[in-house]
Amino acid sequence: MIRFENVSKFYGREKVLDDLTFEIAEGEFFVLIGPSGSGKTTTLKMINRLIDPSQGAIYLKGKKINEISLRELRLDMGYVLQQIALFPNLTVRENIELIPEMKGWSKAQRLEKTKGLLDKAGLPADKYLERYPRDLSGGEQQRVGILRAIIANPPILLMDEPFSALDPISRKQLQDLTLSLQKELGITVVFVTHDIEEAKKLADRIAVFQEGQIIQVANPKDMAKNPANDFVADLFGGDRK
Ligand SMILES: Nc1ncnc2c1ncn2[C@@H]1O[C@H](COP(=O)(O)OP(=O)(O)O)[C@@H](O)[C@H]1O
Ligand SMILES: [Mg+2]
Repeated sequence: MIRFENVSKFYGREKVLDDLTFEIAEGEFFVLIGPSGSGKTTTLKMINRLIDPSQGAIYLKGKKINEISLRELRLDMGYVLQQIALFPNLTVRENIELIPEMKGWSKAQRLEKTKGLLDKAGLPADKYLERYPRDLSGGEQQRVGILRAIIANPPILLMDEPFSALDPISRKQLQDLTLSLQKELGITVVFVTHDIEEAKKLADRIAVFQEGQIIQVANPKDMAKNPANDFVADLFGGDRK
C-alpha cells in the first residue's frame, strides 16, 4: 500500500536517510523503531509530504505520492504527534469534528459519530463532549487527538511517538485503544517509537532504523529469533548467537 523505493534524504551534505526500500501492506500495523536521530520522523513525514525525498520515490497504492493532490493525500491520513495540539478554544466535540465539518457531514451525523467514538475511547460523551482541552488530563487529550485523527475513516494513520509523554497506565490504555481501532476499522498504521516493548506489543512488522538506514524489517518473533546484527539483538534483549 505504501512503498518506499530507494529513498534518500540530504540536509546540505549530510545524508540523514540512506536508500530506503520497503513496503507497508494494507491493514498492517507497521512500527519504526531506532535511536534518536536515526531518521524515523523524517521517514514518517515523507508519507504525508511534510518532507520530500532528495532521491527516490514513494508510492501509495501504486501511485507516486507527489502526483496526488496534497489535500487528497492528507485527508487520507490521520496524523498523531507526541504532543497533541488540540485547539484550546474549541470543545472536545468541536476538536473531533474538524475534519468531518470540512468534508461537509451534517451536524447530526457528526454528533452521532463523535459520541460513539468518545464512548469507545472511555470518555463518556455526556461528560466530555462540551469540555475544553484545559480540563482534560494528558492521556485524555491524547485520546481526543486520536479520535480526531480517525473520525473520517482515513485509510492510513501516522503516529509519531504518540504515547511517550504519558504515564504507564494511560500509555497502556491508549495502546489498547489504538490496536482495537486499527483492527476494527482496518486502518494501516505507521507508528514511530523508541520503546521496544511498545513495538513488540503493537507491531505486525517492525523496521529497525540505525543512522538513516533500515537494518531489518520483520515481525517481532522472527526479529528476536534472527536479528540482523548486534544492534537488533541488543534491542531484543541481547540474545546473541
Ligand atoms: N530540518 C533539518 N535540517 C537538518 N537536519 C535535520 C533536519 N531535520 C532533521 N534533521 C536531522 O536528521 C536526522 C534524523 O532526524 P529524525 O528523522 O527527526 O530522527 P528520529 O525521529 O529518528 O529521532 C537527525 O540527525 C536530525 O538532526
Ligand atoms: Mg522523531
